[in-house]
Amino acid sequence: MFRFFRRNKQSKSDQNTASRTEQASGRLVVEAGRRRVADAPYLLPADFDETNRLDMQHFMLRTAFHGDVMAPITVPQAILDVGCGTGRWAREQALRYNQANVIGFDLVEPQADVIARQIDALGSIPSNYVFVQGNALQGLPFSDGNFDYAHMRFLALAIPEAQWMRLVGEMARVTKPGGWVELVEFNTPIGGGPAFQRVIQLWNQLGDTFKMDGRNADHVAQRLQMAGLTHIDERRIAVNTADRSDRAARMAAVDLDSGIESSGPALIKLGLVSPDELTALRMAAREEYAQPAYNVQWQFCAAFGQKA
Ligand SMILES: C[S@@+](CC[C@H](N)C(=O)[O-])C[C@H]1O[C@@H](n2cnc3c(N)ncnc32)[C@H](O)[C@@H]1O
Repeated sequence: MFRFFRRNKQSKSDQNTASRTEQASGRLVVEAGRRRVADAPYLLPADFDETNRLDMQHFMLRTAFHGDVMAPITVPQAILDVGCGTGRWAREQALRYNQANVIGFDLVEPQADVIARQIDALGSIPSNYVFVQGNALQGLPFSDGNFDYAHMRFLALAIPEAQWMRLVGEMARVTKPGGWVELVEFNTPIGGGPAFQRVIQLWNQLGDTFKMDGRNADHVAQRLQMAGLTHIDERRIAVNTADRSDRAARMAAVDLDSGIESSGPALIKLGLVSPDELTALRMAAREEYAQPAYNVQWQFCAAFGQKA
């Protein structure tokens, strides 16, 4: 049923990149009490708590954008989700576009897929969905022009700035002429009270250490253009945590709260903060989000472009 093809030969540029980027096997280690991928520059954990945060974040983004898909796709036959995380977005699109084959691609197999396989829960995973393990920074293991729609959401803490264009180029390569590439990203939040401002400072230090861009939402449309895509459009959203009438904003505050926890292992490993200090900051920030004077603004952008 699935007609995607692994490239069995690495190009010269792939080989160069593979030597620069550590091979990612999906091997997991435990650091500061959280499980993470051992051999990729991804800053967040890969464990049960993170699965819960990402699921909640998925619903927050659906609420904020009023949908999961921004590109004007109609009857796609093949969909790729790069960095699929929990696999929820990909499995849901498999149900929605049931004529399409949907591939979730990630360093780590989604927990839901693992559990379904273990208990042989027939029917709990759509038959037109499959997971493929790999490292997007080493190129995508699919042949040219395979997908009608290639989607990637919230990989800001996984892709060093210098590697963004190669990856977007790969997404354009595996997309069919006439198909769409969509990137959904965020800027580092701004504002907040004293505790959250300290968290932002720590996140900026972490991003600087790994040379990650803190303003991906501002740059995704331009990256699509630089990759040669056309008909580029974008949807920009800003949520304000002090706006208690906005459901997405209330969910965003919860997401930021667990995001502090998720970033803990990386921050602690670098010696930027102690576990106790981080817990105290998290607790203090909880008191701040809803206060107008301490409003946190978080900006998102979904940008999409068509392959000529
Ligand atoms: C913040 S999560 C976002 C998950 C999903 N896109 C979503 O929006 O719910 C980032 C995901 O990217 C994956 N990831 C990080 N670096 C990667 C890489 N080099 N190749 C493939 N996946 C990667 C992580 O394992 C994680 O599941």
